[in-house]
Amino acid sequence: MLVEILDDYEAMSNRAAEVVIDQIRRKPDSTIGFATGSTPKGLYDRLIEAHKTRGLDFSKLTTFNLDEYVGLPPSHDQSYAHYMWTNLFDHVNVDPSKIHIPHGMADDIDEHCRWYERRIEEAGGIDLQILGIGANGHIAFNEPGSSLGSRTRIKTLTSKTVEDNARFFDDPEMVPEYALTMGVGTIMEAEEVLLLANVTNKAPAIQKTLEGPITAMVPASMMQLHRFAHLVIDETAASELEYTHHHGIAEVPDGQRS
Ligand code: PGA
Repeated sequence: MLVEILDDYEAMSNRAAEVVIDQIRRKPDSTIGFATGSTPKGLYDRLIEAHKTRGLDFSKLTTFNLDEYVGLPPSHDQSYAHYMWTNLFDHVNVDPSKIHIPHGMADDIDEHCRWYERRIEEAGGIDLQILGIGANGHIAFNEPGSSLGSRTRIKTLTSKTVEDNARFFDDPEMVPEYALTMGVGTIMEAEEVLLLANVTNKAPAIQKTLEGPITAMVPASMMQLHRFAHLVIDETAASELEYTHHHGIAEVPDGQRS
């Protein structure tokens, strides 16, 4: 694993942007896995800026998103499709026919999940998967206890997630109880996983991910088995690590790669 510890959110976002921009420049027809949430917003701002000011070309990319709520149309302002369009896709020259986001309104959910996996395979697999992490160690909607070999499927949201989300919905009927998510096994097949974390409340999850046992109770701990897990985290998220200067966990200055 390559672990880079940066000073703060800005530095983390800058470094993550370098990794993604480098990937797109090196292989313009890359397949990139995108994540939603608050963590990658700074990264997406920098990708938009690279497109607008330095001509970064998204037109040949194929994209796959990690997850989506069941029951929300892509137009709903809480859907992950809406997040991706407003935070990135609307502002770059990505080809809409090459964008894949699980469809929360699919008639046949199981068939849709199988189709999603087939599309990833047909695209030649994911070259670079951007990933966040939950304070409980989840990746995408693979909450603790998720099968470590799982594929794209429907998951029941935890009552905590449902409660947390309720505030974003005017109509309580619309609060999602299920989500479609790539599985841990799907994420593990990406060539490179770029996991981002900032904020102190992620520190225990980062510690367990890097230094704890591999366990379904911390789905992100599977990164220990990944061929190229690349963690770009800030100092607060790294604050509970015991081995920051040892055992191959490298601390490098901002903007440099070990
Ligand atoms: P966040 O979510 O970026 O909003 O913290 C990350 C996650 O839960 O995977």
